[in-house]
Amino acid sequence: MKMGKNLYIKTFGCQMNERDSEIIEQLLAQQGYIPTDSPEDADLVLVNTCSIRDKPEQKVYSLLGHLREAKARNPSLRIGVTGCVAQQEGVRIMERMPHVDLVVGTQQIYLLPMMLGRLEHGTGSGREIATNLDAGFVIPAFQKLLRNSPPSPASPDFKRFVTIMQGCDNYCSYCVVPATRGREISRPMVDIIEEVEILVDQGVREITLLGQNVNSYGRNSLGDGDGTTFTDLLRRVAGVRGVQRLRFTTSHPRDLSEDLMRCFAEIDILCPHFHLPVQSGSNAVLQRMNRKYTVESYLRKVDTLRTFCPDIALATDVIVGFPGETEADFQATLDLLARVRFHGSFSFKYSDRPHTRSAAFVDKISEEVKSQRLARFQHLQDEVSLERNKEYIGKKMEVMVEECSTGGCKGRTPTNHVVHFAEPHHPALVPGVLVSVCINHAGKHSLRGEYCQ
Ligand code: SAH
Ligand code: SF4
Ligand code: F3S
Repeated sequence: MKMGKNLYIKTFGCQMNERDSEIIEQLLAQQGYIPTDSPEDADLVLVNTCSIRDKPEQKVYSLLGHLREAKARNPSLRIGVTGCVAQQEGVRIMERMPHVDLVVGTQQIYLLPMMLGRLEHGTGSGREIATNLDAGFVIPAFQKLLRNSPPSPASPDFKRFVTIMQGCDNYCSYCVVPATRGREISRPMVDIIEEVEILVDQGVREITLLGQNVNSYGRNSLGDGDGTTFTDLLRRVAGVRGVQRLRFTTSHPRDLSEDLMRCFAEIDILCPHFHLPVQSGSNAVLQRMNRKYTVESYLRKVDTLRTFCPDIALATDVIVGFPGETEADFQATLDLLARVRFHGSFSFKYSDRPHTRSAAFVDKISEEVKSQRLARFQHLQDEVSLERNKEYIGKKMEVMVEECSTGGCKGRTPTNHVVHFAEPHHPALVPGVLVSVCINHAGKHSLRGEYCQ
């Protein structure tokens, strides 16, 4: 094995991609690749891509453009594209960009060591591509890797994502994910528990279970599955000794069950923070989005959730300017925000994606109107977030420390609020430790307080 090669990974997109980048680092560490923060030092640059909207996809092409110059300066540099754009564009990336050496789709990252080996030894055609969507292959391969290799050196050691399912079967009309990540498939519970146990042994204290629609965990499993539901899984993971905080993302409102809501009342380490993407406050728009719930049913679920867990912090995703969205539809989204008073949200301008149904819809909304609506939504959200955050002033909150420097410490509450507090020169204040902070100031994006152990 040749030692000392440098690997630079640039990750775009969601937590799925972040987790995949960690796995890639772990895989390539076995081939002697050491992560570096600087693309200039790298022998291999991997761009782990996202195509959820046009903007992130364009960022990928712009970075790949810069890498063309880097390769001209250093012809031995290898460049690979992974993730959702690799899956979506496949061979077209090779055709458009002769400086790209390999393209690997979302389910084929386990082939990377073999593909790199062929490039190094000149045993292939000189360029490598693998874009099959074969989840049946990827899940057992991951488990083998997990058992046989140390964790990725670059990732933080007190909180980690654990992927519990891949793909998505929902086919929201605007969304590229079912095409880029394939069919929904759940990982066996025993495998997930094994990974959580390994992580806890390595010092991890907070686990976030990851899937595009975690509520349908267990619906499609490898083989026959074992009948485990998401709530069964949550209870099992919560029972692993050493897990101090448990989170999950993302939930589809249609599949949110009372059983899951009850977990917030019954599992004490389950953090009272819930990301429940609503997308729009208009039933007509929700129907064209193929979301399969109504505003009324969403609101009923929010109310029930709050009876189980009155302090829960709710976050959401919203798309503005979906094709055909009228001013009244958009106003209904603002009304929904004012009614639910989400603690925070991610909001996006609608963006046409290849091969999605909504790309063919008529009545597209102009960029100008989309921008105005986005600004109006975000303005109202900022007001609501600030009001919400002020509700924490005077309260004592449990904070998991993320980092401390001479300027002070930063950590997170169970509700997922970022908290800044003065560094009390306490030697035990290392990342991952739980402390109490008394909140005395609220901004729209974070809280501030005093260490009050
Ligand atoms: N599985 C998650 C979301 C994954 S994508 C879920 O269903 O909630 C993250 C967010 O990107 C979505 O919630 C949506 O708000 C946004 N999004 C997805 N496709 C989009 C598009 N074509 N244009 C604009 N925003 C989009
Ligand atoms: Fe996309 Fe809808 Fe699946 Fe979320 S649930 S990933 S928005 S298709
Ligand atoms: Fe982007 Fe793919 Fe995630 S499109 S949001 S990286 S699943």
